Amino acid sequence: MDVIIASDEQEAGRIAAAHIAHAIRGIDEPVLGVATGSSPLSTYEDLARRVKEGSLDFSKARAFALDEYVGIPADNPLSYADTIRTTVTEPLGFDPANVRTPDGMANDIAAGAKEYDEAIQGAGGIDVQILGIGNNGHIGFNEPGSSLVSRTRQICLTRETREANARYFSDPADVPTHAVSQGLGTIMEARKVVLVALGEQKAAAIAAACEGPLGAHCPATLLQMHPNATIIVDEAAAGELRRADYFRDVQRLLPESQRIPD
Ligand code: GLP
Repeated sequence: MDVIIASDEQEAGRIAAAHIAHAIRGIDEPVLGVATGSSPLSTYEDLARRVKEGSLDFSKARAFALDEYVGIPADNPLSYADTIRTTVTEPLGFDPANVRTPDGMANDIAAGAKEYDEAIQGAGGIDVQILGIGNNGHIGFNEPGSSLVSRTRQICLTRETREANARYFSDPADVPTHAVSQGLGTIMEARKVVLVALGEQKAAAIAAACEGPLGAHCPATLLQMHPNATIIVDEAAAGELRRADYFRDVQRLLPESQRIPD
């Protein structure tokens, strides 16, 4: 697990975008795993800048969203399908037909989730999975206690997640109780993972994820087992890392040949 401490949100986004661009370089039809939430927004902005400048092209790329609320239709602005459309599909120039979100309105949620998981595998798997992290250490909507080998499925959201996400809803009672999320096993199959965390409210989860014992109490700890995971945090989110100085040294002393080009 590489931990990179950026000075602020903009730098975190630039570094994350550089890692994503590097990971898909030379792949004709890359497959991205995309996340909602505020954490990856500066990453998407930097990717959009690269598209505008002509160094990146997503017109043949495919994308699979991490998760979706149960019971919110895709045309509702609160749905993750709509959020992905406005933050990823349109600004990065994806063909909308190539972007999928789990179906939170399916009559048979379990069957839809299984089909979604199989569709990711059918697309050849995910080249780069972009992640945020919940205050409680969840990734996607894999709440603490999730099986470490779970697949895409329906999940009951914790109270802390519903409270954290209430900011998007005019009435907190409207926050859905359930979601469909890629599983931890699904996420772990991505060939590269780029996780972005910003702000001091993420500091405890980041310390646990990067330095704590591995376990379902903090699903993001599973990334310690991923062969190619890069965790990009701002100073505030790095605030509880005991080994922050070492992580800074690793980056500072990285041989030129191993540096990811801007
Ligand atoms: C939601 C999403 C996660 C996201 C998390 C953090 O619960 N399901 O994928 O990482 O929120 O959101 P934010 O980046 O806004 O802090």
